Amino acid sequence: MAETTFTPRVFSGIKPSGGLTLGNYLGAIKRWVEMADEPYETVYCVVDLHAITVWQDPADLRAATYEVAAGLLASGIDPAKSILFNQSQAPEHAELGWILSCVARVGWMNRMTQFKDKAGKNAEKVSLGLYAYPALMAADILAYHATHVPVGEDQKQHVELTRDIAAKFNHDYGEEFFPLTEPVIEGPGMRVMSLRDGSKKMSKSGESDMERINMLDDADTIAKKFKKARTDPAPLPETLDGLKDRPEARNLVDIYASLSHTSAEAVIAEYAGAGWGQFKPALADLAVDKLAPISSEMKRLIDDKGELDRILGSGAEKAREIAAPILKRTYEIVGLVRS
Ligand code: TYM
Repeated sequence: MAETTFTPRVFSGIKPSGGLTLGNYLGAIKRWVEMADEPYETVYCVVDLHAITVWQDPADLRAATYEVAAGLLASGIDPAKSILFNQSQAPEHAELGWILSCVARVGWMNRMTQFKDKAGKNAEKVSLGLYAYPALMAADILAYHATHVPVGEDQKQHVELTRDIAAKFNHDYGEEFFPLTEPVIEGPGMRVMSLRDGSKKMSKSGESDMERINMLDDADTIAKKFKKARTDPAPLPETLDGLKDRPEARNLVDIYASLSHTSAEAVIAEYAGAGWGQFKPALADLAVDKLAPISSEMKRLIDDKGELDRILGSGAEKAREIAAPILKRTYEIVGLVRS
């Protein structure tokens, strides 16, 4: 097959199933903002079609879609530099999703750990959409021929599956049409864990609100959550090695590092020997410093639905300008007649 060069293009998405957490911010959004200043075309999406793979109350879904869009804008995504829209306004995603569902193999889907975790013992009762979800995610990425996908570590397997689907499509149809997308997973924020259990990821669906920092939490709530965060009694060690087997301590150090754009090593060098009575308030102050301006801008934008609709609507038009020709060519390659 001939070598094809693809324009460097970033795609990433976030589900509007509840509000945004510090995990979303440090694992994904922060990097999205940085990549918009690098030589990439950047396409960012509120993936509402993914959210409905589990039940969403319609009013809550609408509110969450606006909230996530507001959070992205407030965090620094600039619609003049990046395309920002919600997935269902670009029907190319669902259309390409079907074609890629016919490329992906059931055996591959059966290996998806996120499906296994979410379905649990209930696998017979969950929606077909939840099972097919990774094929739609591949379509999100491949509809733009995206070369780079910045995500948290929990999405790594899905991006690898996207590569497998692209490679099989290219092989089956004898044309190097889809790129083999690279996941971009880096920095101390790639895996933000629950504040109550260092072995579980911080998520919007976790049972207790004390497990997570929400982007809209006020300063007192943030301070209280960090103060009550589970830790062990030992002070911070002299070297990073000393955090081995101390997942909760490691998590707080990583959060500090990510919020202050530095490494866990640098944080340990600064706080070696410090107790939690010193470190936790410093962490809370840092988080409030970073999040307070974002959350106040978020609240302003959430109250301006007209502005959000304008941005999402024009973003969807720009997104479709990229995705429609790629979908059209996919149909041709597959042999679907377009009269
Ligand atoms: P979602 O909505 O669960 O999360 C959005 C982004 O936030 C990251 N993230 C985290 N990173 C670090 N630590 C955490 N605790 C944490 N929690 C969430 C996720 O890794 C993700 O980057 N399937 C995706 C959405 C999606 C998508 C796509 C992503 C749909 N299509 C195409 C990239 C490309 C998801 O459910 O993310």
